[in-house]
Amino acid sequence: MDVELHDDLDGQVALVTGATRGIGAQIAAELVDLGATVYAGARDPADVGAADQRTIELDVTDDAEIEATVERIVAETGRLDVLVNNAGIGGPSEPLHAASTAGIDATLATNLRGPTVLTKHALPFLLDADGGRVVTVSSGMGALAEGMDGGSPAYRISKAGVNGLTVYLDGEYGSDGLLANAASPGWVRTDMGGSEATRSVAAGADTPVWLARFAPGNPGGRFWRDRATVEW
Ligand SMILES: NC(=O)c1ccc[n+]([C@@H]2O[C@H](COP(=O)([O-])OP(=O)(O)OC[C@H]3O[C@@H](n4cnc5c(N)ncnc54)[C@H](OP(=O)(O)O)[C@@H]3O)[C@@H](O)[C@H]2O)c1
Repeated sequence: MDVELHDDLDGQVALVTGATRGIGAQIAAELVDLGATVYAGARDPADVGAADQRTIELDVTDDAEIEATVERIVAETGRLDVLVNNAGIGGPSEPLHAASTAGIDATLATNLRGPTVLTKHALPFLLDADGGRVVTVSSGMGALAEGMDGGSPAYRISKAGVNGLTVYLDGEYGSDGLLANAASPGWVRTDMGGSEATRSVAAGADTPVWLARFAPGNPGGRFWRDRATVEW
């Protein structure tokens, strides 16, 4: 699919959740390289090693921190162009009947409610931007088209949920210029993916960073993998 990309993100502001390690740290670093002012969301800001990012305390399950994050970014920069919903946990791996309720709650709170509430608070500023982007790091495990078995019920449901969030955002705000897309990074060698995973962190971050470069008028409301659309 032909898309138009920002050559650089000079003058633009991005927020990346879960930027302490793994795919989120890579996305944040690459957005800095593109020229963006990057706010690196972290439960513990001391865990962000990059000196060229603005660390911000953000547990995506904490509503007060969500609100304070958006307020601080707008107070300091007057804008927000890109929101990358990356933070996530794997949650209970057992099939649903054996999964702990606390684990289900934590997974849905982190992976689904968090991005939904954070996006809600970021929306007014993303809509003020020319072609504001919401990039949500989803998963093939949330793809309805692939069928679902093999455990991790809350994780799968949460990722199907953020795919729904992406379609919703496009339906509600796409005509106002918002570009909301979801990406499946593949199986990536991170703490979550494990050392046996087939893809590097850079490969996992590639499509989310590419989506963050989408220029106004590009497609939204789609699910992407390796820079190509895939079925929900
Ligand atoms: N790795 C894969 O194979 C794979 C495949 C498909 C999709 N994904 C998705 O890719 C994204 C990143 O995964 P990853 O592999 O990079 O995982 P990771 O290495 O385990 O990193 C997870 C990140 O999320 C943060 N996080 C967890 N709970 C949080 C919360 N409540 N508030 C804010 N941040 C929180 C962690 O912060 P702390 O350092 O504070 O814990 C960490 O920065 C996730 O959405 C995941 O579902 C990964």
